[in-house]
Amino acid sequence: MSFATLWESLLPIGRDPVTGGYRRYSWTTADMNCRDWFTATAAERGLAVQPDRDGNLWAWWVAGHTDWPTDDRAVVTGSHLDSVPDGGAFDGPLGVVSAFAAIDMLRDRGFTPARPVAVAAFTEEEGARFGVACLGSRLLTGVIAPEVARDLRDTEGVSLAEAMAAAGAVPDRLGPDDELLSRVGSFIELHIEQGRQLAAQDAVIGIADGIWPHGRWRLDFHGRGDHAGTTALVDRRDPVLSFAATVLAAREVAARHQALTTFGKVAVQPGGVNAIPSAVVAWLDARAPDEQTLNTVVAEIRAAAQRATRDHGVTVTTACESFSPRVELDPDLQARLSSVLARNMIRAPLVATGAGHDAGVLAARVPSAMLFVRNPSGVSHAPSEVAEIADCETGVAALAAVLEELASE
Ligand code: HGY
Ligand code: MN
Ligand code: MN
Repeated sequence: MSFATLWESLLPIGRDPVTGGYRRYSWTTADMNCRDWFTATAAERGLAVQPDRDGNLWAWWVAGHTDWPTDDRAVVTGSHLDSVPDGGAFDGPLGVVSAFAAIDMLRDRGFTPARPVAVAAFTEEEGARFGVACLGSRLLTGVIAPEVARDLRDTEGVSLAEAMAAAGAVPDRLGPDDELLSRVGSFIELHIEQGRQLAAQDAVIGIADGIWPHGRWRLDFHGRGDHAGTTALVDRRDPVLSFAATVLAAREVAARHQALTTFGKVAVQPGGVNAIPSAVVAWLDARAPDEQTLNTVVAEIRAAAQRATRDHGVTVTTACESFSPRVELDPDLQARLSSVLARNMIRAPLVATGAGHDAGVLAARVPSAMLFVRNPSGVSHAPSEVAEIADCETGVAALAAVLEELASE
């Protein structure tokens, strides 16, 4: 089946008709429909689908391997199907659709793998519902304790355990799966570039050259609710003022340290137009080229928040909710990808990224690498994210060449 046809089959799932953005949050109906799509697409190809204990999906091509698992460690490719609120169509799904399309391409040219090949879709990569990025791959690799994960709650107060149980999954099974990981020899994630380094170099395909350290911090500003029309300015303890000063400070700190800071999610409580808020809950996303700079950036923002609260009789607490260290992807695998793509006349420059990925989490346990597909505008995490279908097809050809190389011996 062509990439375009397969792509079209997933496109309508979880798309908001008003914004055109995607709302594929883990364990919701949209996610279950994505899971059904994955299972049906795998079944059409005779791939055996095995969800793991953490809700990640695996579709296995073990052609000719009757006594597997042996020590033939699998070549795994894939990405995620969940999205940020009103995310684009490509962030995550491009890697999963391309994986199935690459297997189609290999089969069409009569290739039979000498070792198993699997397509994986990791759950809650964006952390959009439960707040921890790459939750499925972190659980699988033991980076987050299952009991901590079970208690993560969405903005409605629903825990991961409750959401999984409601979807028919078994939260008590959450936890690391060393046996499954022992069967994986390499992981290759294809992803739309979130930026425009490839477009600037007029390249279609890139190879990831490391992932910046990044994290998420929750800031709780507490003031005093009061009447908007009768409370004198000097008597106010308005947490929004402290929050606003912190946002401006974060921007200044980021610029000074060549880092990136974003407050993309904020809740003002109780949210009455004519009431001075009692509290503001805000989430800081901070990223930098190295951990020392990131730590400095976050420390300076925390200090700025403290100063901002003192001026307004407000208090603030800060808690780290998700942290990903700098990731160096596997150099040998990177080199193999470069040589395979060069042999196939595909120029693939190295591209550093500030975006986190499941490959960055799996890299701690299995040799992992990433392929990027050109994003003409560079926009991501927004409905206007787009890649040209022709570039996506080049991505499939690149991924197929890599899979053939890695699964041939
Ligand atoms: O937020 C990120 O970097 C990724 O898109 N999850
Ligand atoms: Mn993303
Ligand atoms: Mn992604």
